[in-house]
Amino acid sequence: MNSFTYCIPTKVIFGPGTETQAGKAVREAGGTSVLVVYGGGSAVKSGLLARVTASLDAEGLPWQAVGGVQPNPLVDLAQQAVDRVRGTGVDFLLAVGGGSVIDTAKAIAITLAHDGIPLWDFFCGKAKVTGALSVGAVLTIAAAGSETSDSAVMTNGSTHEKRGVNTPFNRPRFAIMNPELTYTLPPRQTACGITDIMMHTMDRYFTCDSDNALTDALAEALLRTTIHYGRVAMAQPEDYKARSELMWCGSLSHNDLTGLGQTKDFSVHQLGHEISGMFDLPHGESLSIMWPAWARYVCPADPARFARFAREVWGIAEEDDEKAAELGIQATENYFREIGMPLTLGDRVGVQGAEVLTELARGCSRSGSRRVGVFRPIDQEDMYRIYAMVNR
Ligand code: NZQ
Ligand code: ZN
Repeated sequence: MNSFTYCIPTKVIFGPGTETQAGKAVREAGGTSVLVVYGGGSAVKSGLLARVTASLDAEGLPWQAVGGVQPNPLVDLAQQAVDRVRGTGVDFLLAVGGGSVIDTAKAIAITLAHDGIPLWDFFCGKAKVTGALSVGAVLTIAAAGSETSDSAVMTNGSTHEKRGVNTPFNRPRFAIMNPELTYTLPPRQTACGITDIMMHTMDRYFTCDSDNALTDALAEALLRTTIHYGRVAMAQPEDYKARSELMWCGSLSHNDLTGLGQTKDFSVHQLGHEISGMFDLPHGESLSIMWPAWARYVCPADPARFARFAREVWGIAEEDDEKAAELGIQATENYFREIGMPLTLGDRVGVQGAEVLTELARGCSRSGSRRVGVFRPIDQEDMYRIYAMVNR
C-alpha cells in the first residue's frame, strides 16, 4: 500500500428536511456574511432556495445571491460574482445545487481569498492557490461528488478549455444531503450522475499499483451498489432508498476513499473534459462516450485487472482473463445504453472531421507536453486514436 495522508474535513448532514439546517451549519462553520450560489432555476422552482435562505434569516445571517450557473460552469459568471461582492464582507459561500454550482462557489471562494488575481489564472495553472473562503453545499444531484471533493472544474467560454484545480482548500466545510431533493431530476441528469459516480470509482480502480484489498473491495461494492440502485432510480425516481444510496455513493466515490494507497489514473475524465469543453456536452455523457474506447485501448496492459472488474462488479463467470475483460467492457457499455447514455460522438454531436480529433488530442495533451494516466499512460497520439474510436 502506498503511503498517504487522508483528511476529509467535510461535515455530512444527511436526510429528509436537512436543508433547513443550512443557516445553523454556516454559523457553526464561522460564516457571518453569505453569498448563496445557485443554478438555472430548479432550486427556485422547487422552493429549496427559499427554505435555505429562510434558514439563514433565522440565524440572523446577512446574505446575497448569485444565480444562473449553468452545467459546465463558466468562468465569466464566477468572475462577475467576485467583482460584485469583493469588499462587501462576504466570508462564506453557500452552494445550492450540483457540481457546477458547487464548483462555481469554490472558484469564487478561491479568488476572493487572493487580491488582484483573475479567477481563470487558478484554473489554467498561472496562479497557485494559497487559501480560500469557506464553502458549504446543499446538494441537489448525486453525481460530481464536489460536495466532499478537493476539486473544482471550470470552463473558459472563450477558449472552450475545461480545466480543474485540486487543492485541500476546495473541501467544503459541510455538505447537506437530502435525497428527496433529487426526485425532480430529469432522467438524463440522473443517468449522467450514475455514470459519473461509476467513473470516479473506475478512474481510480484501473491503476498501475492496485494491490489494496480493502480499497478494491470498497470500490467494487460502491460500483455494484450504484449499478443496482441506479436502475431502481431510473425506473422509480421517487424511491427514497435508491436516491439515498446513490447520493451517498456519489460522495464516497470522489472523496478519495476508493483510491487510497494507490495512484489515480483519471485518463477518462481528462479525455472527457476536452469533449465537454468543445461541445458543451454534460460531464457524464463525455465519460460514457470515452470509457469503453479507453478501456479497449489500454486493456492489453493488464487484462487481469479488467477480468477482476468483470467478475467482481458484473458477476461474469468466464475463466479466461482476456475474454472476461472484454465481457466486462461490454457489460458496462450495455448498462450505459440501458440508462440512456451515449456511447459515441455520433450519438450526441455527430461524426467529426479529422481536424476536430487533432484539436481534442492537442488540448488533452496540452500541445503534446503531457501524458495522462498511469494504468497505461497515454500521449497525444494515443489520445487521437482513442478519440477516433468514438468518432462514429
Ligand atoms: O441549473 P439547474 O436549474 O439547477 O439545473 C441543473 C442542471 O441543468 C439540474 N439539476 C440539478 N439538481 C436538480 C436539477 N434539476 C432538477 N432537480 C434537481 N434536484 O441538473 C443539471 C446539471 O447540474 P450540474 O450541477 O451540472 O450537475 P453535476 O453535479 O453533474 O455537475 C457537473 C459539473 O461538475 C464537474 C463536471 O465537470 C461538470 O462541470 N465535476 C466536478 C467535480 C468536482 N468538483 O469534484 C468532479 C467531477 O468529475 C466533475 O468533473
Ligand atoms: Zn466526474
